[in-house]
Amino acid sequence: MSTKITALVTGANKGIGLAVARQLGERGFAVWLGCRDHERGESAAAQLRDAGIDARAVILDVADGESVRRAAANIASAVMALDVLVNNAGINLGAPGKVSEESVDGIRALFEVNAFGAVRVTQAFLPLLRKSAAGRIVMMSSGLASIAATRDMTSENWGVPYAGYSASKTALNMFTVKFAKELLADGIKVNAVDPGLTATDLNGHMGDRTVDAAASIAVQLATIGPMGPTGGFFHDGSGTPFAAHAW
Ligand SMILES: NC(=O)c1ccc[n+]([C@@H]2O[C@H](COP(=O)([O-])OP(=O)(O)OC[C@H]3O[C@@H](n4cnc5c(N)ncnc54)[C@H](OP(=O)(O)O)[C@@H]3O)[C@@H](O)[C@H]2O)c1
Repeated sequence: MSTKITALVTGANKGIGLAVARQLGERGFAVWLGCRDHERGESAAAQLRDAGIDARAVILDVADGESVRRAAANIASAVMALDVLVNNAGINLGAPGKVSEESVDGIRALFEVNAFGAVRVTQAFLPLLRKSAAGRIVMMSSGLASIAATRDMTSENWGVPYAGYSASKTALNMFTVKFAKELLADGIKVNAVDPGLTATDLNGHMGDRTVDAAASIAVQLATIGPMGPTGGFFHDGSGTPFAAHAW
């Protein structure tokens, strides 16, 4: 049974999630890479181990309750506690035109992964997070989640379609605050972050932000000290950096 500080990152076989896992590993965490595909997960974990990081893959499809329960049981049989959970797994289904024409099945699929997936995983791992001396949960949100920015004609959000994707992240922000309030008494901090427009498979490699730059805000909130915030929404420059926890 490992007593090393431990982190789980969902959707960690590529993109921002893999960069978050790498950065947490570099900070001394044993990292579990939650991946829905065995081969992609093993290949990503091997890549991190080659860089000297204590990393292993675990099958975890955030849209599948049984898969999440199995992953929680597997990790619980190997570690004393989970210190950090980063709910990073996310999907986007391409660029729908107008909300009046967006498929409801597509919107449901977006919510299933981007919002309900994070709730499902958080609920399943709470027993293990409660065993940590300083549990931290980070939700990978998006600047597109903001209702205020979406209403603002001068904002970049004004002309962006993606209603289902944006709404799924708005819902995620509300779940973040609800979890933060409930878990205050357990000393578990829960925050949402916006990694910024980052070139990944999710958006057809739009933008010039690197996954390493995008990951750093999640890593900061995943490792905040006891005086750090909870129930907040952060992006680069929004009050950061915070003092790190002395693990
Ligand atoms: N890129 C941006 O500009 C941007 C901006 C704001 C927020 N974000 C958020 O950042 C997070 C990471 O996105 P990314 O840009 O790094 O995208 P990405 O490269 O497409 O990575 C997404 C990851 O999520 C995984 N995933 C998807 N559905 C899953 C499921 N049901 N169960 C488990 N894993 C699943 C993918 O696994 P597979 O390889 O198996 O598909 C992949 O590992 C997402 O939550 C996204 O919404 C991204």
